[in-house]
Amino acid sequence: MKILYPIIITLLSFSIAHASGAEQVADKKDGQPDDYCPWEMADYAIAEPLCGLVGESQRGSEIVSDSGRGNCLACHQLPIPGIEAYGTIGPPLMGIASRLSTAMIRLRVVDTRNINPMSIMPGFYRNPSLINRPGKAYLGRTFLTAQQVEDVIAYLATLK
Ligand code: HEC
Repeated sequence: MKILYPIIITLLSFSIAHASGAEQVADKKDGQPDDYCPWEMADYAIAEPLCGLVGESQRGSEIVSDSGRGNCLACHQLPIPGIEAYGTIGPPLMGIASRLSTAMIRLRVVDTRNINPMSIMPGFYRNPSLINRPGKAYLGRTFLTAQQVEDVIAYLATLK
């Protein structure tokens, strides 16, 4: 029995630690932040603006070229004056608004894995509870806010 005590205590503290961990997750509503607006996909598009917000294209053009926010230039060419360096992993986004409707663009920016499950493009407004092992800074967060996503979409919609 003397030997068993430490074992029981160890087991108990493990299960307590585990239980409190589970509580923390439950508090976060399955990893969703309180201000997360669920969206609906139909015909490979999201028709309704996120949270009903209106985007602003000038702010959007700043977000797409900001390496700390959209960082779209890491993978896409965009017609932004003064930008020489850009990535070519994704297709150039010039003329994107003549190829895709705003609703189709919205799904690509929000979570393009709904179209291509193997895509390496980050889902900028993916349901945070679906993000697999996010970095600490992104735990329970979307990569961009709903307003930032709508700003980016408003900017892309000008690229005809
Ligand atoms: C890590 C690289 C990467 C980053 C960063 C990235 N994308 Fe993409 N994107 C891609 C790839 C690759 C595709 C091609 C489609 C696919 O893989 O599913 C794509 C496709 C797209 C498409 C559809 C293009 C078409 O012609 O059908 C849009 C729109 C788009 N991205 C917008 C953006 C915006 C806006 C940002 C920044 C907020 C961004 N992407 C950031 C890699 C990236």
